[in-house]
Amino acid sequence: MSDRYCVFGNPIGHSKSPAIHAAFAAQTGQDLRYEAILAPPEDFAGAVYRFVDAGGRGANVTVPFKEEAYRLSTQRTSRAELAGAVNTLLFDNARILGDNTDGAGLARDLTVNLVCPLAGKRILLLGAGGAARGALGPLLDGGPAALLIANRTPAKAQALAAQFAAYGPVSGGSYADLAKQRFDLVINATSASLAGELPSLPSGVFAAGSLAYDMMYGRGDTPFLAFARRQGAARLADGLGMLVEQAAEAFFVWRGIRPLSGPVMSLLRGA
Ligand code: ATR
Repeated sequence: MSDRYCVFGNPIGHSKSPAIHAAFAAQTGQDLRYEAILAPPEDFAGAVYRFVDAGGRGANVTVPFKEEAYRLSTQRTSRAELAGAVNTLLFDNARILGDNTDGAGLARDLTVNLVCPLAGKRILLLGAGGAARGALGPLLDGGPAALLIANRTPAKAQALAAQFAAYGPVSGGSYADLAKQRFDLVINATSASLAGELPSLPSGVFAAGSLAYDMMYGRGDTPFLAFARRQGAARLADGLGMLVEQAAEAFFVWRGIRPLSGPVMSLLRGA
């Protein structure tokens, strides 16, 4: 019988994860089945335990359960500890290992797929919620010259920067603080795009040759990418690459084999 994996979320109907992992399994010749499971908001733990009892070997976790998955894990990787959230679970006898591959997926998409090395760069990270927090460790690992976290609620950006101060040159503030500053890489980790909104960035934050990256993706430009285009950002990227790379990293955690992301990205872009 094929090994079973799944993604838990709510909602989960539009998840691309089953298609991504089916493509990875076909590419690597791994015998596994991957499904999407709608977990009830009040009983995420029950959904996980039922899946484990049914022989599940591992799972991805998406909105809104990543913090709960962190608490449910009996053991956590250091990158999951740092992110304060878990997007990948590995079930092994009574152990539930919690990992977080989101930040690694972002860093790999930036540095490998988009060929944007982080060393010496000035990075602006928009947002101070779970998505921003998950990105901070891997971004600081890349050795930027400076990383500024800007948030609508500046106190949250400052608190997050203080938590990561030991990992690199990070500071936090408001959008207004960005006036007259320029960045080589601007990453939107807010959930503003979901509501069709845009963080209130001052104009002129995009340095010559800069890359604008939105963790969200969709058909056409997100509001943030449309703004970056108008502002003259040299390159634009949405979060589809991050989605595929975090999945590839999870696949590696489960199966010990790293699938190629390029063909799967082409498949999704074509669909
Ligand atoms: P996620 O897990 O996706 O990061 P979250 O933890 O709820 O979700 O964080 C959402 C982030 O998007 C926060 O930084 C939030 O700003 P506040 O801390 O000020 O709430 C940001 N955000 C959401 N909607 C926004 C909007 N319309 N404009 C600017 N920032 C927004």
